[in-house]
Amino acid sequence: MLCCKENGDKIDEIIERHRHNPGSIIPILQEIQEVFNYLPKDILAVIAEKTDISPAKIYGVATFYKQFRLKPVGNYLILLCQGTACHVNGSKKIEETLYNELKIRDGETTEDGLFTLNNVACLGCCSLSPVMMINEETYGSLVPEQVIKIITELKNQANRQVV
Ligand code: FES
Repeated sequence: MLCCKENGDKIDEIIERHRHNPGSIIPILQEIQEVFNYLPKDILAVIAEKTDISPAKIYGVATFYKQFRLKPVGNYLILLCQGTACHVNGSKKIEETLYNELKIRDGETTEDGLFTLNNVACLGCCSLSPVMMINEETYGSLVPEQVIKIITELKNQANRQVV
């Protein structure tokens, strides 16, 4: 899915820069994920071809580490903390609320492509637990009513952008 020449050039440049370093596969995958926001399967094949690393090894690394995504993410990427402090303070209840509102579980994207949910370990602001991040925004001390409000606002915002 090389959608345009610019992306193709960028991929070549990333691979070229890391090609001669042993153990280069993780930085290559990280940088390519930044370009597409996920790792398209056909791009993994291109990496294998250009680096002489076997497709099985590349696929193995891409599926082993949670930081890598093999599917596109929604416009709003929800990172829900399931670290200890957040767990103790009710992150499961927040996850259930997100499920009721969006019908998605960890790693899934809503059918309209708007929201993706990823459970993550400590986001580094435990005093605000339970915490979630949506894109760059952090929401802390969450209770279900607040989550419903946030999701409703984001849905409305997306609808306004479509109209
Ligand atoms: S455990 Fe959730 S922010 Fe630290």
